[in-house]
Amino acid sequence: MNLHLKIWRQQNANSKGKMVDYPISGVESDMSFLEMLDVLNESLINKGEEPIAFDHDCREGICGTCSLMINGEPHGPDRLITACQLHMRKFKDGDTIVIEPFRAKAFPVIKDLIIDRTAFDRIQQAGGYISVNTSGNTVDANAIPIEKHKADEAMDAATCIGCGACVAACKNASAMLFTSAKVSQFSLLPQGRVEATERVQNMVRQMDLEGFGNCTNTGACEVECPKGISLENIARMNREYLMATSKG
Ligand code: SF4
Ligand code: FES
Repeated sequence: MNLHLKIWRQQNANSKGKMVDYPISGVESDMSFLEMLDVLNESLINKGEEPIAFDHDCREGICGTCSLMINGEPHGPDRLITACQLHMRKFKDGDTIVIEPFRAKAFPVIKDLIIDRTAFDRIQQAGGYISVNTSGNTVDANAIPIEKHKADEAMDAATCIGCGACVAACKNASAMLFTSAKVSQFSLLPQGRVEATERVQNMVRQMDLEGFGNCTNTGACEVECPKGISLENIARMNREYLMATSKG
């Protein structure tokens, strides 16, 4: 396939970026999207040009780093996959593909397609943990009975990989889907109830401090989430927050 790529180039966080055109030929349909970018970068390096900076690690949908806006959709046109799981068979010869970083005030561009997602880390650090007594009286987690459907729901919430597609998809750049998944994975389990009141308040406070927008129930986050994180998590977090704040 011959393709026409339009890619966001930006030297650093303080410089002004712009879209740059890159024609590419010889793209095979069984290449992954990131392999296609590798081929482009190899040709840029061979020409003495600076390669395009993009994030990636696992290349199998686990780490959440390969956050790319592809033709206006976070992670591209397929549902329930990350950009690294997208294959070039999804495109056809002659296509134009627009590739940008995820855009949100709380996700500043570091370089080209790489964004700073440490805002998510700070939300996690604000409450995404449980405290365990390790003084010798620790209860084996398997000794605590948990209803099957609760365990399943907690596991579903825990599959969030922190990619940020929910933020990029939202017209308000809201991080409610991410934060609610992180709150839910604990609040559904008995081990997570001990600190539930502080957790939801601290994580929501940090989310607001980072500059993410408000949720207006558009639902674009759920549609674009590669892990199928449900809006039910946002409803659960709102209930948790209401209960926590009404306790004072
Ligand atoms: S909720 Fe979905 S889209 Fe948002 S960070 Fe988690 S995995 Fe990514
Ligand atoms: S590179 Fe890890 S999820 Fe895509």
